[in-house]
Amino acid sequence: MKHDGEATARTSSPALPKNRWHVAGFSWELQRQPIARTLLGHPVVLFRAADGVAALEDRCCHRHLPLSLGTVEDRGLRCGYHGLLYDARGACIEVPGQATVPPRARVRSHPLREQNQILWIWLGDDEATAPPPDYGVHDDDRYRFRGGVVHYDAPSQLVHDNLLDLSHLAYVHLKTIGGDPGLHMHAPIQVEQSGDTLRIVRLMPDSDPPPTYGLAWPFAGKVDRWQEIEFHGSHLLIWAGAMDAGSGALDDPDRGGLHIRGFHGVTPETETTCHYFWTVATNPHPGMPDMTDAIREQVELTFNEDKAVIEAQHRNMRRFAGAPAVDIRVDVGPNRARRLQAEAASRTVNAHQT
Ligand code: FES
Ligand SMILES: [Fe+2]
Repeated sequence: MKHDGEATARTSSPALPKNRWHVAGFSWELQRQPIARTLLGHPVVLFRAADGVAALEDRCCHRHLPLSLGTVEDRGLRCGYHGLLYDARGACIEVPGQATVPPRARVRSHPLREQNQILWIWLGDDEATAPPPDYGVHDDDRYRFRGGVVHYDAPSQLVHDNLLDLSHLAYVHLKTIGGDPGLHMHAPIQVEQSGDTLRIVRLMPDSDPPPTYGLAWPFAGKVDRWQEIEFHGSHLLIWAGAMDAGSGALDDPDRGGLHIRGFHGVTPETETTCHYFWTVATNPHPGMPDMTDAIREQVELTFNEDKAVIEAQHRNMRRFAGAPAVDIRVDVGPNRARRLQAEAASRTVNAHQT
C-alpha cells in the first residue's frame, strides 16, 4: 500500500510532451560537419546549409545510410553512399547518373530555428504556434558565457529534479558553489506557477560566500545570496548570485554583486536517456575580469559531479525497480514540475485521441 510522502521510483520519464520547442544543440557545434542526434526518440541529422540550419530524418531514402555520414554542400546534404543530394526541407534535388529525381525521393524534415546561439527543434505532431523562446543573455554584453553538451544515461526527469532542488549544492558541490548544509536545507522555498511555467525562489541572506563565488568577486564578508529557477518544460533558467550583505534588495532586478545565469536545455533522447545543453554566463567584476573564466570552469565541474550522482541514482533505481521513494520538504519544486510535465503530456495525448 502506498502512503502519503511515498512515490514509487520510476526508471523512465513519463510520456513526453512533444508539442514544444526543444533544444537540439548550439550554433557553435554546427560548422561544416553534420551532427547525428536522437531527440525525443527521433534520429535526426542537423546541418548548416548556405541558407540556414536544417534538421532531417537521419536516413537516406535510397538505401537507408544515415545521412549524418554524408557531406554538407552549399545546396544541402549529400549522402555518403551513392550521392543523393537533399535540400533543407528534405527533398532530394539531385541523383548522380540520372537526369530526373523520383518524385517520392525525400525524407522527413523538422522545423529547426537558430536564435541566441541556440538551435531549437520542433518534433511535435501539431504545427508550432509560437516562435522558440528568446534567451537574450547570450547577446547581452554585460555577460560572458561558455557552454557544453553532456549526454546522460538517465531520464530527463532526474536532471529536472536535480536542477529544481538546489539544496543538493550543500552535499554534491561543497567544494565549489555549495555552502553550509544547514543553511541550504532550511532556506525557505517559494514556488509560483504561471501556466506551464514554474518559478522557484530560494534566498539565503547573510551567508558565507561559497568558494567559487569568492574567486570571481571581492566580497567584503557575508553575502546575501539568491537562486531563482524558472522551469519551462523543455529548459530551465537559473539565475543565482550574491551581493555584499545589506547592500541592496534581493527582489531588485538591477541588484549588484555577482550574477550567474544558467541556461539548461534538457532534451530527452529516449525515455531513459537525455541530452543536457548548458551555458553559464557571469558578469565580470571590473577589478577581476579574468576570474569569470574560473567561475564558469568551476560550474562546469559541478555538472560533472551532478552527472555522476544522477547516473548512479538511475542505475540504482533500475536495480531496485518499483521500490518506494519517500518525499521530503525540498522536493516541493521537483514534484510540482513533475505534475506540470504529466499534465502537458496528457493534454497532448488527449488532443490526439479526440
Ligand atoms: S544510400 Fe544514400 S544514396 Fe544510396
Ligand atoms: Fe548540481
